[in-house]
Amino acid sequence: MGLVTGTCFAEMGNDVTCIDIDQGKIDKLKKGVIPIYEPGLEAMVLKNVENGSLKFSTKLEDGLNTSKVVFIAVGTPMGEDGSADLQYVLSVASEIGRKMENPIIVVDKSTVPVGTADKVSEVIGLELERRNVDLDFHVVSNPEFLKEGAALQDFMKPDRIVIGADNQTAFEVMKDLYAPFTLNHDRMIEMDIRSAEMTKYVANAMLATKISFMNEIANICELVNADVNQVRIGIGSDSRIGYSFIYPGSGYGGSCFPKDVKALKKIAEDQGYKAGLITSVEAVNDKQKLVIAEKVVNRFGEDLSGKSFALWGLAFKPGTDDMREAPAIYVVKELVKRGAKIKAYDPKAMHEAQTFYLKDVPNITYFNSKYETLGNANAMILLTEWKEFRSPDFEELKLKLIEPVIFDGRNQYSHLRLESKGFEYYQIGKKTEFVNA
Ligand SMILES: NC(=O)c1ccc[n+]([C@@H]2O[C@H](COP(=O)([O-])OP(=O)(O)OC[C@H]3O[C@@H](n4cnc5c(N)ncnc54)[C@H](O)[C@@H]3O)[C@@H](O)[C@H]2O)c1
Repeated sequence: MGLVTGTCFAEMGNDVTCIDIDQGKIDKLKKGVIPIYEPGLEAMVLKNVENGSLKFSTKLEDGLNTSKVVFIAVGTPMGEDGSADLQYVLSVASEIGRKMENPIIVVDKSTVPVGTADKVSEVIGLELERRNVDLDFHVVSNPEFLKEGAALQDFMKPDRIVIGADNQTAFEVMKDLYAPFTLNHDRMIEMDIRSAEMTKYVANAMLATKISFMNEIANICELVNADVNQVRIGIGSDSRIGYSFIYPGSGYGGSCFPKDVKALKKIAEDQGYKAGLITSVEAVNDKQKLVIAEKVVNRFGEDLSGKSFALWGLAFKPGTDDMREAPAIYVVKELVKRGAKIKAYDPKAMHEAQTFYLKDVPNITYFNSKYETLGNANAMILLTEWKEFRSPDFEELKLKLIEPVIFDGRNQYSHLRLESKGFEYYQIGKKTEFVNA
């Protein structure tokens, strides 16, 4: 998120220094190697490095004292009790307090619980006191709503820019900074700091709720022999409901929804409030990640030794190489635990899988194309809705798979009536009618 933010501000003509303590990442960036995949990011980084607007460093002092605004965009991972772990945010705050030499605006851009701006303020204040210097600073909450896979587009054309501050100068500086992103109409929403902090969690929890709601409906549809794909269209046409975020599938993953839903539950709990709905959203999602694995077991039996599956898609969603909390992790582990062999392909996330998320899982082989995974596989399992999976050559699937069996964890082919084309087709929220077995 920090790299995208910094690059987009540089693109608008600002001088930006991106700081990270990860020497490896900074070395790569200095050599023009982008450590994550995000459409359009590489070209924009390279252009702004070349024209001198964007620099990289591991030292905060290289950018801090020549800047009017410093953004904190470090990770806020899930702590052991489900709350957001603020150690990285507060460590940056303390470093700012130790190193600032001019008045500055400090922006919390990481997703942080209510009250974090107060903590950041306190930590900076304490460091300044320790140094016996009196410098003006204001802490602003400016949560980020970009979506991975469309991060640049979202940042350059945001639906809204939420600014929480308690000081008019801070509002003015933030308005000037964001003005180029909202030229055709003002999309700035000003509010108090605590409400801004809350807004980000509520937005993610609302979206996660829509996903879990629809997945629960999908599971009920299947039991009563209804077709969730038709139900989705039926309800989406109601303008109060709308079509977005009601697609049934294998559950949400990624770096944000899982941890933010948990953190919001913990924020409520800390106030003595049991957030029943949010707790259920999480429980439904945990189960949903394994629905496709259950369908595989129902079809091929509890013991999957000797069976092999072609897996299309590892990333938690298309357009990214991010595998944090991806359903693929859970499905692969479940199938391998039962003795299966996995033949995987993903356009961007294979390196992540091999080096981190599935590193210690045996019996996975990675292939360079989707079709190469099919040979000697008992079935194909689709878990990420990459565009290149949308219209595959089904004749080739039929030819290469041991049997023409497809498990579609994202309902990508539900409109194609694959059953009538001789496939045994399993999807989310609709009973499979034609079974060869
Ligand atoms: N990923 C997204 O799409 C997205 C969208 C909106 C908001 N967010 C929020 O943004 C924050 C960051 O998310 P991310 O996905 O970019 O995380 P990330 O883990 O990919 O990146 C965080 C970076 O911070 C660096 N870091 C840690 N401590 C540091 C320090 N003291 N000084 C300098 N750098 C330090 C790490 O080395 C790492 O490179 C989180 O709070 C997340 O919830 C993320």
